[in-house]
Amino acid sequence: MKIVHTIAELRATLQPFNSPALVPTMGNLHDGHLDLVRAAKPLGDVTVASIFVNRLQFAPHEDFDTYPRTLQADCDKLAAQGCDVVFAPSEKEMYPEPQGFKVHPPTELADILEGHFRPGFFTGVCTVVMKLFQTVLSEAKGPRFAVFGQKDYQQQMVIRRMVRQFALPVTIVNVPTQRAADGLALSSRNGYLSEAERAEAVQLSLALRALGRDALAAADGLVRHLPALETRAMEALAARGWQPDYLTVRRRVDLQAPQPGDALVVLGAARLGKTRLIDNFDI
Ligand code: PAJ
Repeated sequence: MKIVHTIAELRATLQPFNSPALVPTMGNLHDGHLDLVRAAKPLGDVTVASIFVNRLQFAPHEDFDTYPRTLQADCDKLAAQGCDVVFAPSEKEMYPEPQGFKVHPPTELADILEGHFRPGFFTGVCTVVMKLFQTVLSEAKGPRFAVFGQKDYQQQMVIRRMVRQFALPVTIVNVPTQRAADGLALSSRNGYLSEAERAEAVQLSLALRALGRDALAAADGLVRHLPALETRAMEALAARGWQPDYLTVRRRVDLQAPQPGDALVVLGAARLGKTRLIDNFDI
């Protein structure tokens, strides 16, 4: 496995290949990330994982400074999965000058849910993903792939729309959320949880499953009953000591409020102590 830190080295390394499969990450890899690498392996002729904690997608009060940086351990895990290339640029390499050009996703996709509670988050994500696509995928001649987790449902939806609207020559591949034995979605931020919080953390996924069941049970009355069901779900988590941002049922295709007959997804974000967790399920 080759580890490169500059765009020039990366392009030179990928030159002999036709069909790259990229797994973008911010590192501190867990088995969910490694699932993405396992899914990427058979897609192309070279598997590339990027590791870059992207300052642009963090608000000033968020955890950019404390986000765990574990490059050596990450590279060991990637090598064990048969990853071919790791691209781990410095901040100076990715942003040698202030990144004045940015990719602004449309309000109706990116200012709701995560984007409502983390203003500018998806602009930061789209900008870095566009740049990663330019550096990893641009020189290829054959089909190009990029693999994303369902865990970040809205992120993947925004990126799919960006790819479509810019006609980017890359196929986005989804990997289902990998969970711990108790059902907690694996996340780099789970490492922030105390032992007691870790035991409690699964309650977010349980609350979402319960809300999903209630929504399905409401059947034809879904549109009418949903606001009350969502409020009840948030209050139940709050009563356990969480600070919920949202627990909501949306239509899968664009995360807008559901209409009868829509395929549905239930999504949630909530803080437990200092740790903000997100999760979702198709229902
Ligand atoms: P990061 O949080 O490191 O996640 C990298 C990828 O791993 C994302 O596609 C995410 O959805 C996926 N992932 C995380 N936890 C997962 C789990 N439990 N099961 C399956 N997949 C999981 O998402 C980002 O980084 C950044 O926003 C990035 C896209 C790299 C841009 O900076």
